[in-house]
Amino acid sequence: MSRSATGGGAYDVGVLVAGNWKMYKGPSETAAFLDAFDPPLGVDVVVCPPYVSLAVAVGRGVSVYAQNVHWSTEGAFTGEVSAEMLLELGVDGAIVGHSERRQHFGETDETVARRAEAALAAGLGVIACVGETGEERETGRTEAVLRRQLSVLPRHERLVIAYEPVWAIGTGRTATPQQAQDVHGFLRARLAALGAEGIAVLYGGSVKAANAGALFAMPDVDGGLVGGASLDATEFLAIAAA
Ligand code: 13P
Repeated sequence: MSRSATGGGAYDVGVLVAGNWKMYKGPSETAAFLDAFDPPLGVDVVVCPPYVSLAVAVGRGVSVYAQNVHWSTEGAFTGEVSAEMLLELGVDGAIVGHSERRQHFGETDETVARRAEAALAAGLGVIACVGETGEERETGRTEAVLRRQLSVLPRHERLVIAYEPVWAIGTGRTATPQQAQDVHGFLRARLAALGAEGIAVLYGGSVKAANAGALFAMPDVDGGLVGGASLDATEFLAIAAA
């Protein structure tokens, strides 16, 4: 599937590969990475650096997303950043609901929904993360968890879903292409039932150059949200080229 990118426009048909740099790469490393990075044609490449590196990432040939965004325009919310502030920098969008935010920083379905709604309303693109833990999968609750996480999200042409099974993040344990396809097919059907066809669904969780081709070849996998492997320009380029 081919989707045309970011920058506030609707996604229509294509492959989207986003690198979530988490708490890696300050401004100078970000500039050096992007100056040496030449994204392949036909793929929408997004990088998601830490807040302090966003300004330097803008205007260097790829779309730039923040790793989170607050729902208010401004206010007494120490440590938070608003959609309007990101737009002022030239940032194209934001991730919301990453499992590391849910696990370590008290993010809930409700706050994820508020973040997504505000960012979309302000004009940003949004990559909203959903995914089950290993325990939820083992106890047969994967679909129930995904259904709940999806149900609160707004329907919007600039919304992209990232399926990130928590047990596959940073563990080297990737979902098999068939496991990913099974869940993506389920998510696609749920989105259709919610009246939200045409939303891209990315896979995330130990994506690397060696497995990206097989994952992205699955009919309902529209690209990837890549963590560790996006920190290395050669590896990230190979994933985008897959
Ligand atoms: P890894 O690719 O390092 O498993 O991380 C995935 C992720 O959390 C992307 O948001």
